[in-house]
Amino acid sequence: MKHIHSYYSPNDLYNKIIEGLNEIGKDLSKVTLDDLQPVDEFHIRGDIATRDLIKLSNFTSDMHILDVGCGVGGSTRRLSHETGCCVTGIDLSDEYIDVAERLTQLLNMQERVKFHACSALAVPFEDNSFDGVWSIQMNMNVEDKLGWLKEVYRVLKPGGRAVLYEVCGHKNTPVYFPVPWAQDSSMSFLLPPELFRDVITSAGFDIEVWNDKTGLAQKAFAQVTEPKGEPDLPELGVHLLVGNDILTKAYNLHRNLDEERVSLIETVAVKR
Ligand SMILES: C[S@@+](CC[C@H](N)C(=O)[O-])C[C@H]1O[C@@H](n2cnc3c(N)ncnc32)[C@H](O)[C@@H]1O
Repeated sequence: MKHIHSYYSPNDLYNKIIEGLNEIGKDLSKVTLDDLQPVDEFHIRGDIATRDLIKLSNFTSDMHILDVGCGVGGSTRRLSHETGCCVTGIDLSDEYIDVAERLTQLLNMQERVKFHACSALAVPFEDNSFDGVWSIQMNMNVEDKLGWLKEVYRVLKPGGRAVLYEVCGHKNTPVYFPVPWAQDSSMSFLLPPELFRDVITSAGFDIEVWNDKTGLAQKAFAQVTEPKGEPDLPELGVHLLVGNDILTKAYNLHRNLDEERVSLIETVAVKR
């Protein structure tokens, strides 16, 4: 797990984000969720997907939700902002968690949005302590998927819903690397959707919603071409999170989607 941790641990990330905001002329006292979107929503279809998932979740203002693998917390904050719920985000990367806390303070959302650095395989919360769980594109880095989903099941209250939006394998192998979640195959553990579904039910969940989003992901990446020469990167973008080879990673993701090597699944699983 160490190499996964270091993949997601860029140096001086907060200051780089602040520099980016300055370069595009943002007044730091007026930064909004929308301003941060290019860098803090690190998943396929970004904030559009987050808003779809919020609708799907039925989470409400009286709830406390756990965001597992929250990254720097863009969708954690959006979830709280749109629904009024309290959200606790956890992530393996201490650097991301530090940045998540500082960005949340910048937006003055720290009362309802908290963070904690830990592994999804050892969640430091009591049984039955959350009304809902939310996890966006983390499973790819987790080999022990049953261990992760059992932890999700344990901390969720009975009847609670887990909203998962996850990259899975597909009909064809191997996957082209690097991809946004992994530099090479040693960091990526993809199951085909039907096996992923089996692991979710093995952890004790009932599947309430199962939507294949691969077509939408293919459309989102349809225009991505093979990068040539020096990358022309924006001031704010997910390259700050995982490196300047992001255009190669995006191109490989496009190929993997089009050649049915990876798929994208949105699901809601309910604790019995
Ligand atoms: C592709 S990013 C997605 C981040 C965030 N959910 C988002 O959509 O912006 C994957 C995240 O999973 C985290 N992660 C990977 N393995 C993990 C583990 N075992 N426990 C907790 N977080 C993990 C990484 O540190 C990274 O922040």
